[in-house]
Formats: sequence, structure tokens, C-alpha cells
Amino acid sequence: MLLTPPARHGPIGVFDSGLGGLSVWREIVQLMPQEPTLYLADQAHAPYGPQPREQVEARTHRAVAWLLEQGAKLVVIACNTASAAALESLRARWPHIPIVGMEPAVKPATQATRTGHVGVLATAGALHAPRFSRLVERFANGVRVHTVVGEGLVEMIEKGQWQGPEVESHLQKLLAPLQAIPIDHLVLGCTHFPFLALALTHVLGPDVRLVNPAPAVARQTQRMVWAHDLARPEHTEPGPWRFVTTGPVKPFRELVHQLVAPQLATISRPLSFEHLSHL
Ligand code: DGL
Repeated sequence: MLLTPPARHGPIGVFDSGLGGLSVWREIVQLMPQEPTLYLADQAHAPYGPQPREQVEARTHRAVAWLLEQGAKLVVIACNTASAAALESLRARWPHIPIVGMEPAVKPATQATRTGHVGVLATAGALHAPRFSRLVERFANGVRVHTVVGEGLVEMIEKGQWQGPEVESHLQKLLAPLQAIPIDHLVLGCTHFPFLALALTHVLGPDVRLVNPAPAVARQTQRMVWAHDLARPEHTEPGPWRFVTTGPVKPFRELVHQLVAPQLATISRPLSFEHLSHL
């Protein structure tokens, strides 16, 4: 077990079951382009959403242990399902490492709604977790929170499908129960889903606001970097942004480039890609 304080020149570790965490990673690098990052995708074992909580918790612990072995100074669990299953036990196991997690943005949506109805689109794992019921109990405040399991959506994105007629017709079916309800906010409770923004707006119309917590999570990460005095020392080389997957590297590399192309166009840094065979 790592007990020494993390080194400031180490990377910010970002973990997800697959590509979804890139919706958080892209916000982190916009805010802190000077920081080294190490992104780990457990694609060989994705999707996490339908798996038992204990299994997701165990895989998340292995992922964090690996990130720390690689020198990560702070870890972002850029996955709602993994955060719901493991955040508390991770923080108990590594109390000296700042660990940032995700939770569906129920609070801002219920505060902003005018119709009194909000939707939450997330995985089964995230919606069925006690953490989610506690969140709704705490923040619903009379607002009706309608949940929809995003069955099949993570798999589509992992295959490179996030827009077009097939994606929209799948969304249409999933979101049909919400169409009769006047929701004015849809909380994206899975980090993969911001990549569906265009398709979701086509299906739901422009009046439903999509609530993506990733920018707030990136700001929280930056606050933690400052609060723990973990900013990269200026004299050290940040090195390439590292991307590691437990799945095949070639499609991973291609999809990462496609998904974060706008960010890569504005900040130019080398990217490196690797396969991790045992996690
Ligand atoms: N990005 C993960 C999340 O936020 C997807 C979970 C999955 O692999 O099903 O929940």
C-alpha cells in the first residue's frame, strides 16, 4: 500500500470503464493543460452498468491501485457506476490520495426546473445504488425525478456510434416514457452520454436542457490540485497525455481522437496509447 504523499510531477489519473470518462478528461485538460494525465479505460470488462455492485467495486479498486502504482497524484473516477459502487471504500483505503468522483447532477436540475419534472438517464448500476436514492431524497424537494436506464447506449458509443438515425431511433424508444411528461432538464448520469448530446437534442427537442456535470467535476479536480499542493512543478516535463486500455489499442486510439478532436485542435500535446493486459 502506498503511504507516502503523492509526488507533484505525477499525472492526474482518470478512470472509466471505457470512453465515457473522456467527457470529463476533456474538461480537465481545458482547465489544466499543463498537467500530465493518465487515462485508464477498462474496456475489456465494460460495460459496468449491468454488473453486480461488488464486481464493479473490485474492478475499480484494481484500477485505482494500478493508477497509483504508475504515480498518479490524484484520481478522478470519471464513471458514475464505478463511483456509486466504490467511492466510499476507495477513500477509506487510500485516505491520503485525493479521489474525485461523479454523481448524477440531480441537485442543479431540481433547482433549475420550471415544470417540476426532471429526467435522469443513467446506467442500472448508478440508478439502483443507495447513493442515488439518497441524492434524490436530499435534493428532489417536491420535484418529480423520472429515471431511465440507458440500455445499450454505452455499447453503442464504445463501437463509435454516437449520432445518426440508428442512435436516434434507439434513444426515441428508450425515452418514450419521458415524452408524455413535461421534463425540462435531462441529467446525463453516465459519463458516456454527453457524447450523445446532438442526438438527444434531436429526439427531445431544444427545450430540454441536458445537464452534464463534467465541467463542475473538472473544477473540483482543479480545486483539489491546489488544496493538496499538487500542481506540476514548472521545471518538470509534462510528457505525453497517456491513454491505456485493457481492450484492443487500435480502435481505442481512433475513437479517442474522434471524441476529443476539438480539444486536441486547441491544445497541442503528444498522446501515447498502450494496452494493459492484466488488471
Ligand atoms: N461511463 C460509465 C458511467 O458513467 C459507464 C458505465 C458502464 O460501463 O456501463 O456510468
